[in-house]
Amino acid sequence: MIMKYPALKPACNVRWTLAGFGLALVSLLLVFQLLPDGFNTKSFHISSPKDSEQSTLKNTEGSCKGSATIPNIVHFVHLVKPSPNPTFEFPFRQFIAIYSAWYYLQPETINIYTNVEEHLIEETIKRSTSPWTKAVSKLPKVKVSHHTPPDHTTSGEAIPKLPNQSDFVRTGILREFGGIYLDEDAYVLRDLAPLRRMGFQNVVGYQLNGQICPAVILSTPGNKLMEWYHALQHKAFNPNRWALHATDLLSTLAMDFQEPDDQVLVLPHNTFFPYYWRGNDLKPICQVHDKDLDAPDAVTNKGTQNLTEYSENFHLYGPEALESWKTDLRSSYVLHGWTSGIETEFNDQERDAMFRKFGGITPDFVLAQSSNFARAVYPAFKHALDNGVLDGIEYNQSQP
Ligand SMILES: *[C@@H]1O[C@H](CO)[C@@H](O)[C@H](O)[C@H]1NC(C)=O
Ligand SMILES: *[C@@H]1O[C@H](CO)[C@@H](O)[C@H](O)[C@H]1NC(C)=O
Repeated sequence: MIMKYPALKPACNVRWTLAGFGLALVSLLLVFQLLPDGFNTKSFHISSPKDSEQSTLKNTEGSCKGSATIPNIVHFVHLVKPSPNPTFEFPFRQFIAIYSAWYYLQPETINIYTNVEEHLIEETIKRSTSPWTKAVSKLPKVKVSHHTPPDHTTSGEAIPKLPNQSDFVRTGILREFGGIYLDEDAYVLRDLAPLRRMGFQNVVGYQLNGQICPAVILSTPGNKLMEWYHALQHKAFNPNRWALHATDLLSTLAMDFQEPDDQVLVLPHNTFFPYYWRGNDLKPICQVHDKDLDAPDAVTNKGTQNLTEYSENFHLYGPEALESWKTDLRSSYVLHGWTSGIETEFNDQERDAMFRKFGGITPDFVLAQSSNFARAVYPAFKHALDNGVLDGIEYNQSQP
């Protein structure tokens, strides 16, 4: 069956540098003051992703000293317990993560790297009993490939756990191919093209504790920071100290590489990591709310195309808007879900209180939109439903 997916709305084509952007904003404000009411910003040309993709291939316009464009290819890593009969079971939330990347980014390919041997991949996917594995395997542009993860560092230290091995796969594929690396619990919320085209070799984000989190990385192939990250990881790895080779190393390099000024852009935490893995910062992601606890959206002003229309129903929202359980995620590009935290930070009782009748991340949980997570990923899941992506796949609405 050939499925036709509608094209996305054109992404805003940002080719300005940050400085240029500030300048443009100031001049825009000045222009607005001089304009008569009813001036329509539609007269600014907003090009489609296609236009801009072509023109930025060899384009240096607007970028600082850098002319880098990060390729629009997505990488996930999915390592499974080695076995003669490996299983490849995607839960619902991983389908959502992969589909969101597919839907918002329209990437050239979505690569899923696994330790399952190449010749076993097809059969492993076929053998899966999970409807979500089937749904992922039917998506156009998804490519599952074998990648041998290292089980020792170059100095002979054992890397026994799959999540640790996966860290080394991440840098290996980014240095080789470049692109957009996403942890399997990183949910894209909008197109990343503007960030890919800012002229930086690497684009990363702070997490709430002020460190840089390696769960979302945009990168050009073969750049220096990534080469060094890949190499130094072996040196930094300490089996007894969590993530020295991952979070601590990336945080260190991203600061040390500020000097060559096109190497790395570090974005604020709301960009990719609006929440954090510790209890109080984690709960607001998946906490299910009652209808009677329903809060208004933080900000509801609509229509930035036409100043007259915008100003007619305009409300200013003060700090009270932040008291709503609904996080305003409109400035976020990715929602990292801290799934491992949801498993380790709460006991069964606390998790039950969080997910209530849904029990976990299920289609029903997302469709209810009674949590920040559900509200954020709903448009992508709705798109999948409306466009027949799940047609012919038997699944249960309450199956995680
Ligand atoms: C902006 O909206 C107003 C009110 O709907 C309309 O009268 C006006 O023509 C619009 N301006 C343009 C330039 O489209
Ligand atoms: C390896 O991964 C496990 C599971 O996520 C984690 O508990 C452990 O701290 C990691 N080890 C290192 C060295 O980061």
